[in-house]
Amino acid sequence: MLSLRRSEELFNEVSKIVPGGVHSGIRYREPFPIYFSRAYRAKIWDIDGNEYVDCVTNMGACILGHNYKKVVDAVKAQIEYGLTCGIDTELSFKVSKMINELVPCAEMVKFSNSGTEAVAHALQIVKGYTGKKKVLKMEGCYHGWYDQVFVSYNPKVKNDNYKPIPDTNGLADELVKNTIVVPYNNLDIVEKAVKENKDELAAVTVEPVAYNMGCVLPKKDYLKGLREITNKFSIPLIFDEVITGFRLAPGGAQEYYGIKPDIATFAKAIANGFPLSVVVGIKEIMKITNPKNGNVSYGGLYNGNQISLAAASVTLKELANGNVQIELDKKGRFLEKEFNLLAKDMRIYARMQSLAGKFQVYFTDKEVINYRDAIKSNQDLYLAFVNEVIKNRVLFLPKLLFHHGVCYAHSKDDLNKILSAIGKGLKRVKEMRL
Ligand SMILES: Cc1ncc(COP(=O)(O)O)c(C=O)c1O
Repeated sequence: MLSLRRSEELFNEVSKIVPGGVHSGIRYREPFPIYFSRAYRAKIWDIDGNEYVDCVTNMGACILGHNYKKVVDAVKAQIEYGLTCGIDTELSFKVSKMINELVPCAEMVKFSNSGTEAVAHALQIVKGYTGKKKVLKMEGCYHGWYDQVFVSYNPKVKNDNYKPIPDTNGLADELVKNTIVVPYNNLDIVEKAVKENKDELAAVTVEPVAYNMGCVLPKKDYLKGLREITNKFSIPLIFDEVITGFRLAPGGAQEYYGIKPDIATFAKAIANGFPLSVVVGIKEIMKITNPKNGNVSYGGLYNGNQISLAAASVTLKELANGNVQIELDKKGRFLEKEFNLLAKDMRIYARMQSLAGKFQVYFTDKEVINYRDAIKSNQDLYLAFVNEVIKNRVLFLPKLLFHHGVCYAHSKDDLNKILSAIGKGLKRVKEMRL
């Protein structure tokens, strides 16, 4: 049995002063969140002392594994210099240059701290550059909580239309109204929407792999099609590579699929869990953030903070030759193959979809290619499955469309533990179905 007594006690105290007991909604779980004390490589320990094989890995940020020695050593050494933030240094240049050399569209580079911030900067930049206000996004893609794109990420859909639906109260109506929503993996609808709105459209933005729907892959030529449509109407194309960045390939999804956007945003894997994000893009657009003569202001005290840059300089070096990415993909595909065989043997309608070490389990019988397919995954079965997996000491999140994953540090033994827990989860689902 998994005892979570201390987590429950802490929750009872914490929730008096922290709404829901967590500082980011995704960490919430019924009946109470699990609180953690320590992590090492692919393992994480909760405050009750339970050890889990971690398939959350800080939402994919810890690509190399927790407490990766070279990264931690670089951070410790950097702390000794006494520099934190609010300045630029040779290290700022060094990491900018690494990104410039790795990422195909990164002719110019600007740091920020979180994925949301990078996206907000990117949108301000394209709006400043084009003088237009509308942004087109795909239903089910998440780009952080900035008003214009925190729309139709996880909507309750009732009919066939794709009107923008805010994901929270409190968004600026003006921004929401200027968001156009279309389904992922459907070029005809994108083309029609771009054509109709071309005079007001500042950008088309997309997660190249829709991991925020779990793990939804772009159809063959989908990204190429987006590039052709945006080129045809002279609209900037933004790849939100906050998850795909440095993970699919050293140069991200744009390298993996061979499609170069105009602007891209990166975070997560860039610094193996330390807070750093970056907006990159073609010189023609990015140059407008030059404080000397550009017309888009770009600021932030913590932009390019030295601790995260030290982490990034080592992380990017580890990721630069592409070996880590190959390993991650192999591990993910191994789990995918084994899971799908198991589900078939047990005659359960369930599938795992995977790419680049990220994966998601759907309780549905057909391939998931967009948001509306993804939400057909059976929620009750999914929750029962995840709870059983957690009970068997493999950390999953009970969120229907979460992107689970493995990191470089997951060993063969860890993968076998994941498979064993997954088997028990499927058995639980089978019992529910009987
Ligand atoms: C694709 C994508 N963009 C943006 C964000 C926002 O990043 P952050 O949570 O660092 O603000 C996320 C976060 O999960 C993301 O997955």
